Amino acid sequence: MKQVLALIEKKKQEFAQTPFIKFLQDKSIDPRQRLAWAPAFAPFAMSFKDFNRLILYKEPANNKLQEMINQHTNEDGRHWVWFVQDMKLMGYDYSINFTDILKFLWGKETQKVRQMAYNLFAICSFEDDILMKLTIIESIEATGNVALFEIAQVAKELQQITKQHYSYFGESHYAKETGHIQADMDHLEHFIENIQLTEAQSEKAFTLVEKVFADFTEAMNEMLVFAQKHPYDKLFTTTSSINLRCAT
Ligand SMILES: [Fe+2]
Repeated sequence: MKQVLALIEKKKQEFAQTPFIKFLQDKSIDPRQRLAWAPAFAPFAMSFKDFNRLILYKEPANNKLQEMINQHTNEDGRHWVWFVQDMKLMGYDYSINFTDILKFLWGKETQKVRQMAYNLFAICSFEDDILMKLTIIESIEATGNVALFEIAQVAKELQQITKQHYSYFGESHYAKETGHIQADMDHLEHFIENIQLTEAQSEKAFTLVEKVFADFTEAMNEMLVFAQKHPYDKLFTTTSSINLRCAT
């Protein structure tokens, strides 16, 4: 897995240079606006619960890696609760027509975010090689590590304005995500690094790493566009009219 992890590290550095990350770092923009994409991320944040619990989790675990994956999903599959809490704290918990919410969550402006989730389901649902699942998890964790660090910096600024603690967007979430599979094991990174892959497995794993990063980059770019188009305090009023135009 050493080479796979090296590719993940390279992709991680590239992702840190994307316009979405630069946008998060731009202190000339109000922190509320820099996080105005948060509700549009809901299709992924909520699907991620199912991805962990329905796709990655397997009981009984008949090997060490599946045990580790199960442990990981028990942690990461619960973070949607923090997302819901933060939506409330960020002021998005007001009454909106159900049909407008449907159009918002399944609309054009969240297409890439949904696609990212669909692709993860597609790749892992019928994948028997657990090392490919490990590769996917390691790639997701690497993207999350970069993004959550930068998001937490914005949340810190937001916290100074609102005096609220943000469980999903704040530092406590970043602190939970180590950048690797979350399993209780000494020398975890060393253990993963030393897993041997065949040439065919390596080739496949490289392709999967590229795919996860490409999807994540596109999805977060979509979030950047969303935040640039929608003032944080008029989010649903503007999306509603846009969605109606795109409905057909
Ligand atoms: Fe998480």
